[in-house]
Amino acid sequence: MLDFELYIPTRVYFGRGRCEEAGRICAGCGFKRPLIVYGGGSAVKSGLLERVRRSLEQAGIGCAVLGGVQANPTLEFCVKTVEFAREQGCDMLLALGGGSVIDNAKMAAHCVRTGRDPWEYTEKVIKPTDSLPVGVILTIAATGSETSDSAVLTNTATGVKRGLSCDENKPLFAILDPELSFSLPPYQTACGVVDILMHTMERYMCTNPDNELIDRMSEGLLTTVIEAGRTAMAKPDDYEARAALMFAGSLSHNGLTGAGRRCGLWAHKLQHEMSALDPRIAHGAGLAVVWPAYLEFFARRGVFTERLERCARKIWGEATIEGGIAATRAYFRELGMPGRLADFGLTAQDAEYMSRRCTKDGTVSFPSAVELGLDEVREIYSLCL
Ligand code: NZQ
Ligand code: ZN
Repeated sequence: MLDFELYIPTRVYFGRGRCEEAGRICAGCGFKRPLIVYGGGSAVKSGLLERVRRSLEQAGIGCAVLGGVQANPTLEFCVKTVEFAREQGCDMLLALGGGSVIDNAKMAAHCVRTGRDPWEYTEKVIKPTDSLPVGVILTIAATGSETSDSAVLTNTATGVKRGLSCDENKPLFAILDPELSFSLPPYQTACGVVDILMHTMERYMCTNPDNELIDRMSEGLLTTVIEAGRTAMAKPDDYEARAALMFAGSLSHNGLTGAGRRCGLWAHKLQHEMSALDPRIAHGAGLAVVWPAYLEFFARRGVFTERLERCARKIWGEATIEGGIAATRAYFRELGMPGRLADFGLTAQDAEYMSRRCTKDGTVSFPSAVELGLDEVREIYSLCL
């Protein structure tokens, strides 16, 4: 186990009906005027927005409300959020939704007081200071953004999707009320399951396989999520399955399953290129295409052999690496996820474009069991065709 630092400051309020504690929690933190941010309308339709407003009112707190964050959130909407929060004199952001709404809130929070443009932070030239606090009411188990240090935005003008990872991105609190995810369409449930699995799987593919504690914790998480995913798909209002997925989502991406490991989320990088090219591609669906190809690439190169074999055996009950990869594909298919780039209408030409984009025309590479430069990224995308 390598040396590590782990900082998980977000206070989690977990359980049935806890979204109605938003007012009490915000009042307890001394907030006077939250900006409630939500997405395309599911929070209105489900009645969540109204419940939260009522809860704030009962706690004697005013609020401003801004809806319209789109999936794969844009820089443009983030700028709008900053301006609105400033106009309304808000002292915190309260995100009602999933990764897209939360990331929009996180990035906006860095800019309300500082007057900076959100994109400047993704360029890593300046660091966030004096950010507004962010609270989350989670409606989809997926990205783990509710406790993670990351936020991702797309600059539609340039077609670049880029993230920022820093402690300042970690929300102050997150309300995890599994019942809020009962209303998810099956496709979004499935995308979430894939993303949760990938956050732990990517860290499992580490170059220092000497961490039995984190290996076993990861294997417990992965096998639980696989089963809970099946249950939630068959029975969307199964509380225990939704609860397992929701907490697993947070645990998968708050740093815990990467503790003491040398790893990188490079399959994620390859997926982000897909959503940058076409924002209609959901993050989890893109990962379902990239991940098996990513594993096939390593198997072909004869690296990560111990990891691939252990994963096949412990997670899928398969004796061989090939069996493990086939079982991964079969599970994603069972969830109704796409299997090829062509399922998104993407072509070999698009794969070449994404390879160049991802590696900045071959000037950037990513450290893994095999250094991933332009040729390697090209090979992985070609395995997705
Ligand atoms: O917009 P609304 O109407 O709310 O609908 C959303 C959206 O269409 C819907 N939805 C969410 N909760 C629902 C619901 N529909 C019915 N009932 C509910 N309870 O689901 C759709 C997808 O929502 P979105 O927030 O886009 O999904 P997700 O949580 O997967 O977030 C994806 C974004 O997060 C980024 C991704 O790249 C992508 O931009 N990520 C963020 C990370 C982070 N900050 O740590 C890590 C991830 O790896 C990822 O990159
Ligand atoms: Zn992800």
